[in-house]
Amino acid sequence: MELSALLFLAVLMGLLLLLVKGRPKARGHLPPGPHPLPFLGNILQMDRGGLLKSFLRLREKYGDVFTVYLGRRPVVMLCGIEAIKEALVDKAEDFSGRGKIAMVEPVFQGYGVFFANGDRWKTLWRFSLATMRDFGMGKRSVEERIQEEAQCLLEELQKSKGALLDPAFLFQSIAANIISSIVFGKRFHYRDEEFLKLLDLFFQSSSLISSFSDQLFELFSDFLKFFPGAHRQVYKNLQEVSAFIGHVYLLRVEKEKSNPHSEFNQKNLILNTLSLFFAGTETTSTTLRYGFLLMLKHPHLTEGVHKEIEQVIGTHRPPALDNWIKMPYTDAVIHEIQRLAALLRLGVPHMVTRDTHFRGYIMPKNTEVFPILDSALRDPRYFEKPDAFNPDHFLDASGALKKNEAFIPFSLGKRICLGEGISKTNCSSSSPSSSRPSPWPAPWHLRTLTLHPRRVVWEQDPQNTRSASCLV
Ligand code: HEM
Repeated sequence: MELSALLFLAVLMGLLLLLVKGRPKARGHLPPGPHPLPFLGNILQMDRGGLLKSFLRLREKYGDVFTVYLGRRPVVMLCGIEAIKEALVDKAEDFSGRGKIAMVEPVFQGYGVFFANGDRWKTLWRFSLATMRDFGMGKRSVEERIQEEAQCLLEELQKSKGALLDPAFLFQSIAANIISSIVFGKRFHYRDEEFLKLLDLFFQSSSLISSFSDQLFELFSDFLKFFPGAHRQVYKNLQEVSAFIGHVYLLRVEKEKSNPHSEFNQKNLILNTLSLFFAGTETTSTTLRYGFLLMLKHPHLTEGVHKEIEQVIGTHRPPALDNWIKMPYTDAVIHEIQRLAALLRLGVPHMVTRDTHFRGYIMPKNTEVFPILDSALRDPRYFEKPDAFNPDHFLDASGALKKNEAFIPFSLGKRICLGEGISKTNCSSSSPSSSRPSPWPAPWHLRTLTLHPRRVVWEQDPQNTRSASCLV
């Protein structure tokens, strides 16, 4: 046989082998879903509008629980509060594993509270909760730290004296400073160069993580990881932040040296701190930014919040946690901001910790699960006008705060957001009305405000040479 024929045969055999190996193997008895292609999974069913849109369309055909192959990975999607609750709350232990986010996996490698599993996660969860609840590394309460930061924000806003200002950078700074104050025991000045660098690395990384290329990477990480791309930049950025965090926990590591089984090794502590910054900075600052935008767009609602704050807190005291009970309207507005912002619309990947029976299906141990939070947060059965900014969603006829079981921006169950309490205090202390008197745009500026990102530009901030983004 000629050499070329032999070569052709070898390539053909190789391709056949790859096809057979690449065909996703159905294990257990997974919920139904579109038929996957070898290697490519359900790429043909993915919409150009992004993963969320694709999943919501598939829900119409397959119901609230279905399986999608992201490349070769079968992932079970949970839609609607009933399915999400049934899994994350009623079968909390089974669904308490953390799935992977391909873009940041090489950085965290299963360390730190966000990405850890099993006993490591339990230990770090307890440690992180104690750090955030009780004392951090100093003696002041978390509430006092947030109040201090809100005061700094107010001073900074007042400095602008009515000029237009992009608050994105300030919101990022206060979110990062509160976490820093809790875990390091210190806050940074808004012009501190090291701090600005840290913020920039986070901002760049989270933009990349929420980009279209990340969604593509999520589908084909096994293959794309070998090529240059955004994932390499994210890796570099987060490594740099880890190095910054590194020296802070050396003391704790020294203390634990004699215990070979301790989870308080340097890697876990650094990546645990990185987890808190990673999970808490962009989420909080984007919520604040979106909240400001919504309130600027709806001045009559802002007026209501302002009135309530003046009545309950007055103008000379900082807001405190125990004011909440007397401020149902403000509370409802903040709930509504968090509902509409729906920052983690796809949820964060979970994983089943053992073979799990669910709604007549069997998910083998380690099957990935996405609780699609957006499907609950915009469910018309629970929110009369799901796409509108309407604080009445959270108010009863007497004006008291009304709970809504589909309100799950922080998710549910054992992996529920560790920073839920901090976020709520953050949003209230930094709400536009509590920072009055600050400059409000003239009515003609309001007309140009849109709630949709129209363009993202990178520009130099003249004051501190840091990159700033503009969403409207
Ligand atoms: C508005 C702001 C925030 C939102 C909307 C938010 C939302 C979420 C969501 C949806 C999850 C995933 C839960 C799951 O796995 O099902 C999560 C996890 C987490 N969040 Fe937040 N978060 C916010 C702020 C924060 C802050 C300020 C911190 C820290 C100080 C924080 C720390 C964490 C941690 C550590 C986890 C992982 C918990 C675990 O895996 O056990 N978050 N967050």
